Amino acid sequence: MKTAAFAVGLAAVAVFFGVEPPSAVKWRSQSLLNVIWRSLGVDIRLKREYQHDFPSYGVYNFSSKSWPSIARVPLSSLSSQEFKDKYVKGRVPVILTDIEPQEAWGLKRLQGECGDMPVTFDRRYSAGLRAIPKWIRKLFLDPRLREAYNTTTDSVLAAMHRKMRLSDFLSFLKKDQDLISTAKQFLSENGKGSPLYSGHIVDYLFPVMLSAQHMERAHCKTLIAEAKAVLHRLTDFAAAGRDDAPEFSAMDSVLFVAPAGSRAIPLHQHGPYNDNLLWMLHGTKRIVAVSPSSTEWLYERPEFGGSEYADRVFSADVLEPDAGVQPDVAHVRAMEGHVSAGELIYLPVNVPHAVQTTEGDASVMLAWQMPVPGIARMFFMKSCSYLEELADFPPWAKKCTILHTLMQDNPQAAD
Ligand SMILES: *[C@@H]1O[C@H](CO)[C@@H](O)[C@H](O)[C@H]1NC(C)=O
Ligand SMILES: *[C@@H]1O[C@H](CO)[C@@H](O)[C@H](O)[C@H]1NC(C)=O
Repeated sequence: MKTAAFAVGLAAVAVFFGVEPPSAVKWRSQSLLNVIWRSLGVDIRLKREYQHDFPSYGVYNFSSKSWPSIARVPLSSLSSQEFKDKYVKGRVPVILTDIEPQEAWGLKRLQGECGDMPVTFDRRYSAGLRAIPKWIRKLFLDPRLREAYNTTTDSVLAAMHRKMRLSDFLSFLKKDQDLISTAKQFLSENGKGSPLYSGHIVDYLFPVMLSAQHMERAHCKTLIAEAKAVLHRLTDFAAAGRDDAPEFSAMDSVLFVAPAGSRAIPLHQHGPYNDNLLWMLHGTKRIVAVSPSSTEWLYERPEFGGSEYADRVFSADVLEPDAGVQPDVAHVRAMEGHVSAGELIYLPVNVPHAVQTTEGDASVMLAWQMPVPGIARMFFMKSCSYLEELADFPPWAKKCTILHTLMQDNPQAAD
């Protein structure tokens, strides 16, 4: 029964996304489909109650076209206690402005240091997409890909299964950037003013982006050393003045490289209970962090379990909100900021986020995303008390046991 309802819901949502461009009427009807999806489709583990009121987030200002700003502060100006109370427990994102790398990591340097590293693109959505019937996949993906990028789902899936070296990928960045510009141009002329990404899943996939790439020690030693130094600085910071300093063996970073103007992924909330540390090494990203209590206004859509960590994904365009097209975005509360080379943003647990590399230059970023909160873990690890202190995700005791086991066995398990 549940399976049948799930299939009907999925098909209805798929048909919805298969027609375009989505109008305000369609978005209203999607709000209804969301109810089906939220009650039948969303993994039970992702259904969360929020006991916080997330006070720093606010509604979008449609005249200044901006969300309230994420604070920008140097780490050196903060105490460990302040960081824990204000940002970790307060669930407030913050941009740390003094996290300089040893070297400048432009694309040339990346190429020189890590160019031989083998890269693949198939770890995310392709598995999930290939697992669903072709006709549904087509309904979800083809219209925009065909129209804007002149390519089909099948060719994108094929591209995702290409194997190459990082240097090959870097050599495609300019072409990808041009493709994005062309697609934007095409849609502004033919898409009746609808923005590039509105309502379609294409930004998951195309151009195929290097994201969440594990760095291979043999190929990327200096970059790995940079990451270790920063993490060391952060753990020392979290441990300062405490006799219960956190203990964990490893917390490796992953590499994201994206062409100018691209969105890394649509708005998403990570499946497990993790926060994020995103450290920019080159270029600039605009990041919109949404209050977890706003998810009902975000036009949730199915993601087939093929995403990073079984994320929840949303169609709401929070980077360029348009309440005429998606009326619910007017209720969303969020914050935004730009993060540039030498800066690191802390995204608290459960915060849905949309990330876009700004125009002009490609971006290089390292991220620590763990099955358990990254920086929160540094503060609360000793006792699992962080699970209670950030109390969104019961049952604590069971979770704590699982997480301890996971981390002892294999700190990378959730990747
Ligand atoms: C929204 O932005 C406009 C233009 O910058 C400004 O005048 C106005 O005060 C802002 N509204 C709110 C509620 O902050
Ligand atoms: C679309 O792709 C096809 C096949 O790759 C090509 O023949 C055609 O010229 C392309 N159309 C546009 C508008 O780029």
